[in-house]
Amino acid sequence: MFKRKYPNTRLRRLRKNSNLIDLISETNISSNDLIQPIFIKENFKGTEEINSMPGILRLGLDQALIEVENILNAGVNSIAVFPIIDNDKKDSVGSEAIKQGNFISSSIKKIKDRFPEIVLIADVALDPYTDHGHDGILEDNKVINDETIDVLVNQALLLADAGADMIAPSDMMDGRIGAIRKALEKENFKDTILLSYAAKYNSKFYGPFRDAVNSAANLGKSSKSSYQMDVRNKNEAIQEVAMDINEGADIIMIKPALAYLDVIHVIKETFKIPTFAYQVSGEFSMLKHAINQKWLDNDVMLESLLSIKRAGADAILSYAAKDISKEINNK
Ligand code: PBG
Repeated sequence: MFKRKYPNTRLRRLRKNSNLIDLISETNISSNDLIQPIFIKENFKGTEEINSMPGILRLGLDQALIEVENILNAGVNSIAVFPIIDNDKKDSVGSEAIKQGNFISSSIKKIKDRFPEIVLIADVALDPYTDHGHDGILEDNKVINDETIDVLVNQALLLADAGADMIAPSDMMDGRIGAIRKALEKENFKDTILLSYAAKYNSKFYGPFRDAVNSAANLGKSSKSSYQMDVRNKNEAIQEVAMDINEGADIIMIKPALAYLDVIHVIKETFKIPTFAYQVSGEFSMLKHAINQKWLDNDVMLESLLSIKRAGADAILSYAAKDISKEINNK
């Protein structure tokens, strides 16, 4: 490296005013980098607060359609939809997940009918549908991989048929990307994008999400450690991503984001393919709560998102997407 020495080099020269600072900034966030997750609740009209997620609401489909318009108006063109399913529709194998015309597939149809240009991402996993709260089917209290994949494939086909642009398996079964890709090709969903939650950690930062979709109580003290990754590992994330790319993933995701910036970085550097990160519920809530208490300035949210981009993410799922987009566009 070239030698840089004071006073030939004064790094402060480029920090003289905000125009200069903006001019040399290396990382920026635009609305195009943001994806807004929304919670849609079955058999429900209106809105409902989520205690552990300040400012985020469970929406009836009526309100969801209004909210999607607000999100688009704020400049965010991509959403990820998460259903909240009636408790009495949940069973041990998540059968509602693959029922023709179920709540999420009819919701997706209505959203895509009204807003055809929106990029709609639909989650594949059984946890919204199982009475035990796990992402797959249980046998002797263990989630069984291959039998779960069979259901996930059908869930993915249903979501693709409903009009989801991206199918996002968040279940962490081995081999599911390959199986879903094969089925999509066979059923002529050749352009359905697979966004794999490739490196999804067994994180405590998902707590508020599980409240939001009412799966926390069902899961109880049970852990997802037999399928989600150990938080201590990084090499393993590289293997997970390599496998998913080989199996047909178009985009890979790292989740959570803030506590895993090193993982985002190494994966982007290694594979150089579209890489998304998920600022998950717990990350969002701790910042938002501190902002609401005035313990932290509002700008910590943007700072956090910038750090995720700087680490290498191309796009970020964030509960703050709509608000941040408004902020950066009104600047
Ligand atoms: C379900 C799923 C989870 C999240 C997204 N999809 C929860 C989990 O794995 O328990 C978490 C998102 C968040 O915390 O914001 N498979």
